[in-house]
Amino acid sequence: MENTKNIDKFFEPESIAVVGASTNPIKLGSQIFNNIIESGFKKKLYAINPKADELYGHECYPSVKDVPEELDLAVIVVPAKYMKPVMNDCAEKGVKSVIIITAGFKEIGEEGANLEKEIMGIAEKAGIRIIGPNCLGIIAPHSNLNASFADGYPEAGDIAFISQSGAFCTAVLDKALPYKLGFSHFVSVGNKADVDENQLIKYWLNDPKVNVISGYLEEIKYGKELLKITREAKNKKPIIVLKPGQSDAAKKAISSHTGSIAGSTQTFKTAVQQSGIIEAESIRDMFNLMMGFSWNKLPKGNKVGLVTNAGGPGIIATDMVVNNGFEMAKFSEELESSLEEKLPSTASCLNPVDVVGDALADRYEIAIRTLIEKDETDIILVLLTPQRITEVENTAKVVINLSKMTDKPIIPVFIGKKYVKPGLDRLFDNKIPAYTEVEDAMTVLKAMHDFYKYSQQTKSNFNDKLLEIAGKGEHTEELNNYESSAENALPDEIVEKLVAEVGLELPKQIITSDVDEAIKFAQDNFPVVVKATNDAIAHKTDFKALYLHIDNEEDLRNAFTELTQTVKENSEVSEPEILIQEEIDYEESIFIGTNRDGDKNVYEEGQPGFGHLIAVGQGGIYTEIYKDFGYVLTPGAKDRIKKAFDSTKVAKIVKGARGKDPLAYDEVLKAIEAIQKLVLLYPRIISLDINPLLVTKDRAIAVDIKIFI
Ligand code: COA
Repeated sequence: MENTKNIDKFFEPESIAVVGASTNPIKLGSQIFNNIIESGFKKKLYAINPKADELYGHECYPSVKDVPEELDLAVIVVPAKYMKPVMNDCAEKGVKSVIIITAGFKEIGEEGANLEKEIMGIAEKAGIRIIGPNCLGIIAPHSNLNASFADGYPEAGDIAFISQSGAFCTAVLDKALPYKLGFSHFVSVGNKADVDENQLIKYWLNDPKVNVISGYLEEIKYGKELLKITREAKNKKPIIVLKPGQSDAAKKAISSHTGSIAGSTQTFKTAVQQSGIIEAESIRDMFNLMMGFSWNKLPKGNKVGLVTNAGGPGIIATDMVVNNGFEMAKFSEELESSLEEKLPSTASCLNPVDVVGDALADRYEIAIRTLIEKDETDIILVLLTPQRITEVENTAKVVINLSKMTDKPIIPVFIGKKYVKPGLDRLFDNKIPAYTEVEDAMTVLKAMHDFYKYSQQTKSNFNDKLLEIAGKGEHTEELNNYESSAENALPDEIVEKLVAEVGLELPKQIITSDVDEAIKFAQDNFPVVVKATNDAIAHKTDFKALYLHIDNEEDLRNAFTELTQTVKENSEVSEPEILIQEEIDYEESIFIGTNRDGDKNVYEEGQPGFGHLIAVGQGGIYTEIYKDFGYVLTPGAKDRIKKAFDSTKVAKIVKGARGKDPLAYDEVLKAIEAIQKLVLLYPRIISLDINPLLVTKDRAIAVDIKIFI
């Protein structure tokens, strides 16, 4: 959980012991030991092995207990069966932090999970922090420390990287090396028995060496806590997360990899969007995003100026600019004529600025410099395709030099491979993020612009005050008398009480087994509908349970009698109750649903899960076909709820489309807020469906509501 105590001892230790370093240099313990030496670690380093007095020029002791100095960090690389005595030694010695490389714990099943618990028990008692087990180790270039068995060592920089897969770490590291991408931390967390992403992210948000946080995470267990950490952070830093596990097959693979459970994809997506976290869709995206955020300036606006030596790619890029929510800047006459004056008559001085195929670096220089000076764009995209005459490297130099003149991002996209490579290399050497595909550039720009907007936002997307009501519903005790099952929603009598508490409007209705009482109600409310209750429907095989458009006593009596008989025949109820509702003359039907991530105590401190995800969209029988949903994670702020609903197509209709009068838009928002309040008051609610919420010009009425606890 949130505890960041002694995390610095992993990354800035004064002394390290490697337990399991050996005379055999091939062994993993020796590899790690030698990596620490080769990375230039300048503080105390000891080997622990009962069979030697000295290893690789360093003192060697039989146990950590024999080391004559305090130990900040022990890296343990002995087989799992020796773990307990080694951990006991560490506890006795007062070692502050331990990295357990060894595999054979939670990820292999029950026996391993029990051993992991025992090890954690020893560590907790002694106040030792643990990274791992089942991990690759850590790299902290600012401390000249490679305490891992990764091959390769990155430059010191400002990206903190965390991975739940050790092998993923090495792949990213290897990919980063030729780009000289700089890292502040590299952490393989393995099974996350103690230190997890939340603690590291919290630590890094407060570490001035870190500007970008990036992670490959198969499971984010304490989701709500992560979101709290990010929204309470004083320093907003980009957090890039790649989370696999969208398919069922991938979910299975995750559970056998690090013993984690993959949560719902939609909950994760909504959670990260709502908290300004950047989701990478692929390894390629993650890499490009790290490079972009680490090296570039954030775009503060969305107006793009495009300079190209090729018409076709210019048009393709224009599409992508627009499709990603950016705008092609509309140049002023002054800017256009300034370009025309300086560029040859063959060039096009609109946006895109086409310096045409025979352009040398000087034309790029003129065009980019003019765009910078006239200051009508927020981003300058520089496209280059390599003709025989094209000065690829010199154009790269132009971009490098002009980038120093402006606080706006200049993004080079050099399309090709072999001939553009020298230019790209020069750009990377100068820490200018460059791409060979416009898509990649746009993905990064969009994420950076979104992050910029998020970092400027003064209002939170969450309303934390609402958490104060969590679990405090008036009917909490009464609800304990009820149960529901997958087919069996809560009965109407309790549903009515719950929804009344949060002010959700139900239709005027009566539940009765007495036909005369039904008629009395209907006389004031014709037309009405006659329905089976939720209890009766639970036992439903396939019978007629709904009678619409009933506007007279005789029809009501017939429907009532027929439905009573049917329910009797299809259930064990001897005297069924029937639901009579006013029939609503509605214009649109909406769906509101919610599912809980985590347990019923998810809103309590330190509990796993993200909470309830609320979905809103087109209702009726085609809900699943339209899949027109907007999402909000509890406790969502009012604005966020509005944004979720506004993202649906049906919201446009509710607001009044094609000359029609607007419907009760505010009432729909109030209904979503009421549902959010309901699940917070009663976190026992696992899921809830309102379908439909009928919308008229002035009302939004939940006519069918199913609650599961
Ligand atoms: N204290 C100090 N040294 C000890 C010891 C102890 N209590 N117990 C054993 N050792 C020594 C061994 O004698 C050996 O040294 P030697 O070569 O001088 O005899 C050394 O530690 C290593 O032990 P060994 O039994 O040879 O193990 P190993 O090196 O073959 O394997 C692991 C150890 C940890 C690498 C292995 O058990 C393992 O878990 N491998 C998987 C690691 C992995 O993939 N992690 C996840 C990455 S993402």
